[in-house]
This record gives sequence, C-alpha cells and structure tokens, in this order.
Amino acid sequence: LDNGLAKTPPMGWLSWERFRCNTDCVNDPDNCISEKLFQTMTDLIVADGYATAGYEYINIDDCWLEKHRGHDGKLLADHQRFPNGIKALSDYIHSRGLKFGIYEDYGNFTCAGYPGIIGYEQEDAFQFAEWNVDYVKLDGCYSLPHEMDLGYSKFGKLLNSTGKAMVYSCSWPVYQIYAGIQPNFSAVKTYCNLWRNYDDIQDSWTSVENIIDYYGNNQDLIAPNAGPGHWNDPDMLIIGNFGLSYEQAKTQFAIWSILAAPLLMSVDLRTIRPQFKRILQNRKIIAVDQDPLGIQGRRIYKHKGIEIWSKPIGPLFNNFYSYAIAFINRRSDGTPSDISVTLKELGLIHFYGYRVEVNNIGQLYSNSFLFLCKKMSLTVNTKEERKEKNVKILFRPSEIGLA
Ligand code: DGJ
Repeated sequence: LDNGLAKTPPMGWLSWERFRCNTDCVNDPDNCISEKLFQTMTDLIVADGYATAGYEYINIDDCWLEKHRGHDGKLLADHQRFPNGIKALSDYIHSRGLKFGIYEDYGNFTCAGYPGIIGYEQEDAFQFAEWNVDYVKLDGCYSLPHEMDLGYSKFGKLLNSTGKAMVYSCSWPVYQIYAGIQPNFSAVKTYCNLWRNYDDIQDSWTSVENIIDYYGNNQDLIAPNAGPGHWNDPDMLIIGNFGLSYEQAKTQFAIWSILAAPLLMSVDLRTIRPQFKRILQNRKIIAVDQDPLGIQGRRIYKHKGIEIWSKPIGPLFNNFYSYAIAFINRRSDGTPSDISVTLKELGLIHFYGYRVEVNNIGQLYSNSFLFLCKKMSLTVNTKEERKEKNVKILFRPSEIGLA
C-alpha cells in the first residue's frame, strides 16, 4: 500500500499471543486486556531500550470492546477495562513518543465475539482516525472469504479517505487460502501494508517450525509480494515467553529478519529474561530486517535438518547486493553438525568482493554475510583459498564458540 507508511517492516508490541483474551481484571488485574496493560508496556518499551532499538507501535489485539456498540452505532471500549477510553490511551502512547495500533475484524464479529465492522465500515474508519490510530489490524472471522477482495479494499480506501495515515494490516489472504481461494496478491499489496498468509503463531517451537516451512515451501508465490510499504506477516515474535529455548528464540529472530517480517513482540516485558531481551534488541539482526531495499529472503538450501536462508541487502557495490545469510540447524541429534557449501551455492558468485563478520551470539552482519547458527560455527577460508573456484566454507561449531 502506497500510503507513505511501513517503508520498512513495522516494529512494535502486540498483545495477542501472550495475553490473548484475558478479560478477567477482577482476578488477574495485571494481565488482563486493559488500558493499564498497554500503558505498562508503553512505559517499558521506552524505559528498557526497545524504542531506541526501533520498536514503535503499541498494538491492541482482540477483546478490547464492549460486547455491543453504543446506541449511536459507535464502537465502545470495555468501560471497566478501559475506563478512560481509547483516545486517552492513544494520547498516552503518543505522549511517550510511540504509535498506537488497534484491532477490528472484517466480519459480523471479531474472532472472540466482539462487534465487527460490517455495516459500520465508514463510521469505524473515521472513529479510528478520530482516536488518532496509527495502525489497524483487520482480522477476518465471521465473514465470507470470497467477499474479502471487495471488503478489505473498501475498508482500506475508507481508512485513506479519513486523511489520517494508518498502517493497514490485513488477514485477507490467510482466510482465503483456508477457504481454497487463491488470493489476488497484487490487490492485497495494493491495499494493505502487511498481511497474514498462514496459521496463528502459538507458543511453541513446532509452531515456529511450521511457519518457517510454510514460508520456505511457498516462497516462489509469497516472497515477490514483499517490498517497501507491503510486507508478508508470518505473525508475532514469541521470543521471551514459555515455549522457545534461547537457541530457538535466536532462530525465530534470524528467520523473521531474513523474511523482512514485521517485528511485533508479544511478550511480557515486565518479566522477560535478559538473554531474550538481548535477542530482541540485537541491532545487527534488526538492521537485516529493516534493510531499506526491503527484499524478502529465501531458503536456498534444505537437507538433513540443515537449512540456509539468504536475503539480499545493501550496500550495493557495482550493482551487486550484499547478503545476509542464515544457517539453521534443526537437527535433534544433540551434537554440532559440520556442513560445507561453496560460495557459488550461497549465490555469492563474486565471492572475492565480500567481507565476513561474526558476532558472539552466532549472528553477524556486514556487507556480505549474516551467520545465524544453532550449534554451529564457521571457518572463513583464507585469501588463497578464496581465489580458487568453488572454495569451501567450513562451519565448525567450536571455532566461533557455538558448540
Ligand atoms: C486470529 C488472528 O490471526 C490472531 O492474530 C488474533 O488476532 C486472533 N484472531 C484474535 O481473536
């Protein structure tokens, strides 16, 4: 969507995966979907360095509404959980230098059963503008997938007609894919800044792996649709929650960055452990995700549990890209694996022009490579070796301290 927004993948915090539809503020006041929760997360995004690392949107997901609209047809936030109303929360978030996102559904109800926008599209678009909303996620429960081409594009136009620029996050393709409809991606990318293609992420490595596989297996269809202003959304980052080990969390961050994915954390920032926070704030990996060229990376190798993913990035030199390259070990045999690949296999035909850097968590970024390793490491070949064709790069875990 060419609305001047999301020139790089949006970064922020979204409530759903971690806090779901917890509306019980009586028994669980600190974790229920409420203005207090969003204010607290806003404060922590600023105080704990996330904002400086690039995270800027604080996004509400489902379950913020009253079960019914007001007599005038307007959307009402739950009056007990949002006693000061949405505009006050929006103002609070803006006053801290951040941006505010909201959730609705192109259907009769949201997935959790709150009022959807059908029949009220114009009113709701203008209501969001009045609340100074910066980002709208439009879900697709309780609607007809074959009507989504019309519905999502219409609501996108309505958002634009308000004069308030809002990032538009669509669930349009995923509901169509489930219904057996091939999405019209050229329409999707014209009307949406980002969109979901696949299942909701859950707090498990299995879920992350399924998403990684989906994006790898369908990359020819999916990857070309991404670019500045229009992104594929493989769903939230679950880093720092209960389901991922440290190594798995690094892998999610690495692959999401290679995919030029929106980086929307869904984690309790009050209790996140420091090593997970460091992953989320790893500037070099964030720079890969946020690379201004906005080219979605691809899986270029998959064999016996080892995968290599590659993303063209800047700077360009003599019209050749630099690359971020991620190595993933999905094996479970518990000991590091050696792999060897040729530069050619990595797509680095002009290999003599690359520089390689590593950082100590196995992730690196330079004008050439990003190495993201799980139980792996690398040996960079010598200058002499590099002069030869098909020279091998060997990866030995012990050598970069990842064994
Ligand atoms: C389905 C979406 O895909 C999720 O991300 C979340 O928004 C839920 N609906 C909320 O009900």
